[in-house]
Amino acid sequence: MIRFVTTNKGKLQEAERILAGIGTDVEMLSMEYPEMQGESLKEVVLFGLNWLRQKVEGDVIIEDSGLFVESLGGFPGVFSSYVFKTLGMDGILKLMESEKTRRAHFESCIGLLVDDEAVTFGGTCEGTISERTRGSKGFGYDPIFVPKGESRTFGEMETDEKNKISHRGDAFRKLAGYLQSR
Ligand code: IMP
Repeated sequence: MIRFVTTNKGKLQEAERILAGIGTDVEMLSMEYPEMQGESLKEVVLFGLNWLRQKVEGDVIIEDSGLFVESLGGFPGVFSSYVFKTLGMDGILKLMESEKTRRAHFESCIGLLVDDEAVTFGGTCEGTISERTRGSKGFGYDPIFVPKGESRTFGEMETDEKNKISHRGDAFRKLAGYLQSR
């Protein structure tokens, strides 16, 4: 069993599906931790783990992710959470109204605190920003992100389908490999 410090049930569900594959149960530890405004997801994750080190017992994981839109110079990137709450998906679509280049990618960084040591695992997923929101599955920016090689948005996919190609699926599979090799 491993504890996942998050308040996001969508992330928890994605993690559960992948780690079930190696026989590891995931327990949600619903608490907030400081998300420092860093330059990279890894920096944010390492800061969070360091803070959690004093507050929780045992092994835990955290995950930070972001959407990076090429024509917006990588925005919202590390500000994805704040931008989702303020501008929202409609705000992103508006910023890109006359934009032909719609390339974007998601990044995920998982931090694992194991035996008091911090280890990180990264994942990415290339794709494009759709012209309008489509689908109601998943969470966050899922309805406006079309992964490469697909015509549907993440919002139109089931969790298992999304996991196979997503940034978080990529990162969690690396974590699963690490946990298995220990
Ligand atoms: P955080 O990792 O919880 O800080 O997430 C940053 C922002 O990106 C939040 O608004 C999330 O909803 C969004 N986000 C993170 N991962 C995904 C994803 O897999 N699909 C869509 N939106 C995501």
